[in-house]
Amino acid sequence: MCGIVGYLGKRNAYPVLIKGLKRLEYRGYDSAGVALLTKDGNLQVYKTKGKVSDLETYAADKDTTGTVGIAHTRWATHGEPNSTNAHPHISYMGNLAIIHNGIIENYAVLKKQLQEHGIEFKSNTDTEVLVQLIEYVRTKRETDLLTAVRIALRSVIGAYAIAILDKNDPDQIIAARKSSPLVVGIGEEEFFLGSDASPIIEYTDKVIYLDDKDIAVIRRGEEVEVVDFNNEKMEHEVTTVELNLAQIEKGGFPHFMLKEIFEQPECLKDCMRGRVNVEANNVTLSAIIDNRKHLINPRRIIIVACGTSWHAGLIGKQLIEDFCQIPVEVEYASEFRYSKPVINEQDVVIAISQSGETADTLAAIELAKSKGAFIYGICNAIGSSISRATNTGSYIHVGPEIGVASTKAFTGQVTVLTMLALALGKERGTIDNLRYTRVLEALNEVPEKMEQLLTQGDTIKDISRIFTYAHNFLYLGRGYNYPVALEGALKLKEISYIHAEGYPAAEMKHGPIALIDDEMPVVVVATKNVLYDKVVSNIQEIKARKARVIAIVSEGDETICKMADSVIELPHTEECLEPLLASIPLQMLAYYIAVAKGKDVDQPRNLAKSVTVE
Ligand code: M6R
Repeated sequence: MCGIVGYLGKRNAYPVLIKGLKRLEYRGYDSAGVALLTKDGNLQVYKTKGKVSDLETYAADKDTTGTVGIAHTRWATHGEPNSTNAHPHISYMGNLAIIHNGIIENYAVLKKQLQEHGIEFKSNTDTEVLVQLIEYVRTKRETDLLTAVRIALRSVIGAYAIAILDKNDPDQIIAARKSSPLVVGIGEEEFFLGSDASPIIEYTDKVIYLDDKDIAVIRRGEEVEVVDFNNEKMEHEVTTVELNLAQIEKGGFPHFMLKEIFEQPECLKDCMRGRVNVEANNVTLSAIIDNRKHLINPRRIIIVACGTSWHAGLIGKQLIEDFCQIPVEVEYASEFRYSKPVINEQDVVIAISQSGETADTLAAIELAKSKGAFIYGICNAIGSSISRATNTGSYIHVGPEIGVASTKAFTGQVTVLTMLALALGKERGTIDNLRYTRVLEALNEVPEKMEQLLTQGDTIKDISRIFTYAHNFLYLGRGYNYPVALEGALKLKEISYIHAEGYPAAEMKHGPIALIDDEMPVVVVATKNVLYDKVVSNIQEIKARKARVIAIVSEGDETICKMADSVIELPHTEECLEPLLASIPLQMLAYYIAVAKGKDVDQPRNLAKSVTVE
């Protein structure tokens, strides 16, 4: 959940590190720090509570020279966010500086052992244990840094991506990973480190994605060497990153979230490119073609995911059961990993994750794998841990999502799930040709309809201003639109800090109706589908209790227009594709409410984009 950057080369390291931290700030932003080996050979560490901009202010009058350094932006796990707990942490002899993303689970035991040897700790973090342990091993065994890192990591339980700087060796950075992502960038006589490639791509597109238990030795003037804990050389391909700067910059939008909302039509075209072919009346997912024997006839499918990706999974369940007639269960990865699931080789597990790094989803995959299930990943981040841990999968191809609140990844995930259900349904013969063609054509038209919807931005902005007073919101929907209600509520609470609940509309009478009064706005997704009349009755019941209703309706709906206080119209589409359209106004509503309330939309409090700890 933290961001890591490193630089060793011919440039001044500090500006490269600061720029890199800003790119990674989505991963955590409660404190930031940098360690530099300055021109005159000092190890300088500057760290402060707050964002990267606070670090810049803090370091403005300090010595930031030097061509090697490491830097960190933090999402606190152990120890409150303050400048003492901020990274880098320094070893007790003052030689080593470390940055770390992850959690050291056995830190308490290790800390106690080190304290018994007289080592004093300055912070409350688990990370400091690592640097003290490495220094201790190095001193006791009179060994070099690499050997000390290898030995120390053998006794560490947990997840980590680390980078270490040695005061006495300005030509080296050592980095290692286990269950937390780490990328090494290779330029002309210079090297970069990043939690992802975004801090690197400005300088080079050549990268090495480290694997679990890899230790990378980055030395000036030499090739990057990767070894395992036993010092065995690990071969790694240098890959070319396909990421451009425009994708990770705001491009004139005030926030990444708004940019990402508006990117959705193009993203979905990218997601469907080469897969949806309307002329040929066909959807092709290479993962299905290549793994037909595992996917065509599973006993059941289990979808595991967290947060927004879990909401996409709920829509996936309906699509797959509808088109493929395969029973589907949707589980929170965090619950699934500690349950005692009855799974075997006849089951398929679909793991959905934007970042591809979510710790709980990764653990759920490992559990399912150990029971013999076949694992299909739906990820956005190319080369991420989850995409590598699965047997096969489909990327959603929506480009980097930087805003902490997921938007385009959600619609990308739902699009992939739709394609998957269509392709599998056709292979199995469980969807009739007419329906297949209708859904396929309608799916192809979704980007255009999204464009249409996005022109309603000003209307939604006006509506949002009316509702900034509210402390609670209720979101209702049925069938395919029930997960949309959940997702709408999640968006609002994440970025505006207004409490919001999503419910299946019919459940309202079983409890939540007690909350409804003139203070509580209710958002109802009430499109013209088979359950329309029932949702209209729900709206009547809400109005009878004097609540304000914001209704998301199908174009031309006159009935609800007369009942609701605010109405947003959706272009017509197939019922199963309505979530792709209905989620857009809900994203915008949450965005504009949060902006009107002056909240930090891209970096909401307490959250981080990539949850690499459980
Ligand atoms: O990267 P993932 O899709 O695995 O992340 C899962 C959740 O942490 C994520 O969707 C979270 O709920 C978002 N902040 C929602 O906007």
